Amino acid sequence: MAMTDTAPRRPLDTPTPLKRGLPAWTYGHPDLAKLEFERILKPSWQIVCHISNIPKPGDYATLDFGPESIVVVRDLAGQIGAFHNVCRHRAARLLEGEGNCPRAITCPYHGWSYNLDGGLRGVTVRDSFPGLDRGELGLLPIRMEIMLGFVFVCLAGNPPPLAKTWEGFLPEFAPYRIADMEPLGPVYFEDWDVDWKVAMDNYLESYHVPVGHPGLYRMFTPDYDDQLNLATGVARGTGWMRKQKSEKWSEGRYQDLVEGVVTDLPEENRRCWRFYSMLPNLGIDVFPDQMDFFQVLPRGPGKCTIRGATFGLPDTRREMRVLRYLNARINRQVQREDETLCKRVQRGLASGSYVPGPLSEHESCMVDFHDLIRAAIPAVRSPVPPASIS
Ligand code: FES
Ligand SMILES: [Fe+2]
Repeated sequence: MAMTDTAPRRPLDTPTPLKRGLPAWTYGHPDLAKLEFERILKPSWQIVCHISNIPKPGDYATLDFGPESIVVVRDLAGQIGAFHNVCRHRAARLLEGEGNCPRAITCPYHGWSYNLDGGLRGVTVRDSFPGLDRGELGLLPIRMEIMLGFVFVCLAGNPPPLAKTWEGFLPEFAPYRIADMEPLGPVYFEDWDVDWKVAMDNYLESYHVPVGHPGLYRMFTPDYDDQLNLATGVARGTGWMRKQKSEKWSEGRYQDLVEGVVTDLPEENRRCWRFYSMLPNLGIDVFPDQMDFFQVLPRGPGKCTIRGATFGLPDTRREMRVLRYLNARINRQVQREDETLCKRVQRGLASGSYVPGPLSEHESCMVDFHDLIRAAIPAVRSPVPPASIS
């Protein structure tokens, strides 16, 4: 991904040394995986759901994140709160997935109940707890922010507010009206047998697009040609729709249809697909007809789960349904290609012969990601696994 600084390039005879990625051992080490979760993932913003997923009082959504579980719930006054999804009695997980609790959240173990604003409401066999202070035993709250209609939570540390981190891109999002969108389907989960960093490395660079995603490349210019990395850890690439129609039916049909269907958008937004990322593990794709987010969630060393969902403005027109069908079909193919490529990388990383190769300037976002990990966990600089990791 191209850097935005405008400093003059060095003369060709003194090139800057090429950057290298993290050593192979870091893509599947149990102690490192624990540190990554504590130092990099916990102190970062994570999407739980969109406000449109929980429109009514009592509606809730959960996010399982490493050993943690988070619930966001809309209370009777319509306010959204975020809490640890853990009973204050003996720790039972309170809620799963998403749904509605009409007035209270009731623990399935001994029946303690919590108000929708988190306060402890009722304790079964109350007399058996002499002196119990209900005020002390509400669900533990979690820092929460809403941006573009998405409910984000942060479990630790003190990352800057999202509006600050994304400030440079918020004007670009405006025409899409993402806060007004509704779910186009349920949250999906895909288990990939690759380390979470392999999946993120892949999303953070588009150098692989011309070879790895021939369909996408037939339809769009590569987004590294129109790339912006901000110093706050967010980046965006834009792929512009080619005038040349793809010969493949679904791709050519999408190219034909899109501009005539999404007429509420400014003209330039009708012709591009935009790909945003926020370190360490979030992707946001914005298309003229819909958008999606996905998180790469670690599932132990060398394994991850992709969690994501798709949203669109309310629109029942047949031509919009067709467009969204085509988009989903094209992106499903891209997703399968990415999974296959990531698995090939994970297998290659297992070979003792591999030392990290030089990286293209089109992989600069991945370099930023690796620098973030190096800063948080200096041990990853070691070419071989150190005796103890800190
Ligand atoms: S663990 Fe929840 S009521 Fe006992
Ligand atoms: Fe890809």
